[in-house]
Amino acid sequence: MSTKIDETLYVCMGSACHQSGVYQVLPVLQRLLEEHGFEGHIALKGAFCLGPCMDGIVIKLGERLILQVNLHTIERKFQEEILPLLQQGTQP
Ligand code: FES
Repeated sequence: MSTKIDETLYVCMGSACHQSGVYQVLPVLQRLLEEHGFEGHIALKGAFCLGPCMDGIVIKLGERLILQVNLHTIERKFQEEILPLLQQGTQP
């Protein structure tokens, strides 16, 4: 498996998303990426406010925004929204 980075997942670190607990969500997101074999393929980066603060926590992948991410929704959001996008964009 190559270690080339194919995609970047931007996680909003703006103040609203910070208050919504982005620092608790990050390790879960990291674990989910590892469990699905995306380690080394997907770069996880912090971003400034991505815009829809009321719908945070916000994650951006390509042009797509994934909204209302939090500790309770991250696993479902990953399975239903993030994973299908990653599988389209890269073949680990
Ligand atoms: S602070 Fe995250 S979208 Fe604005």
